[in-house]
Amino acid sequence: MSKPNICVLDTAEAIADAVAQHVARTLVAKPQATLGLATGKTFISIYASLVRHYRQEGFSFAEAASFNLDEYVGLPDGHPASFRSYMNENLFRHVDLPSEQAQLPGVEGDLDLACAAYEEAIKARGGIDLQLLGIGQNGHIGFNEPGSAFDSRTRMVELTASTIAANTSDFPPGETPPGHAVTMGIGTILEAREIVLVALGAKKAEVLLSAFEKPASRECPASALLGHPNVTVYCDAAASALLSGRR
Ligand code: GLP
Repeated sequence: MSKPNICVLDTAEAIADAVAQHVARTLVAKPQATLGLATGKTFISIYASLVRHYRQEGFSFAEAASFNLDEYVGLPDGHPASFRSYMNENLFRHVDLPSEQAQLPGVEGDLDLACAAYEEAIKARGGIDLQLLGIGQNGHIGFNEPGSAFDSRTRMVELTASTIAANTSDFPPGETPPGHAVTMGIGTILEAREIVLVALGAKKAEVLLSAFEKPASRECPASALLGHPNVTVYCDAAASALLSGRR
């Protein structure tokens, strides 16, 4: 078990900038890098900062590839709350990442086949160099809800009522998120060479404590990261309030 590096910064802006610079460094060092991308409210300002750095510094995504963590099952094409729409809006349409190199899990047709194809595509790229992660208040990473096996692979999952409630504000008024999604597995995530997890706000404080300062347990999927040697957690003071290992 290894503890992640915990990096506490004062403001959400400082975190967005630090994570954007982290991604930029990866792309400058390895233009063909394979990125694992996350969605959620936490990442909106991070992608905005990444786009700013991209415009100012002129590094390129042209040879890179990306694989998103997850996607809802059952939303019509182009639905504004789909993670594909989120990624188009917040990152893809602003940078030179070719669309065929920007993948999200397939959520149509035979899902077992689509999930196996996603795993194969990641493997064919040589694996993920840098995986970005948010964290759910119940400890989920991607959509690996509590109880998920640490060796799980890309698959369809049922979302918990608390996740559906937490994500309802991402949907147009009157709509609720679908009950199912396809997510990379925890085993898939752990194969990334480097992982960056970002947590903002007091409502993430308890879960960071459970994830990183308690014994790893399936009840807190993010605690699986204790088994990975290269994890950095970027968080603000409120999210880190209960951690002893902060610096
Ligand atoms: C979502 C996503 C996760 C994300 C998490 C936290 O449902 N599937 O990948 O990290 O919940 O989201 P937020 O950043 O909005 O708190």
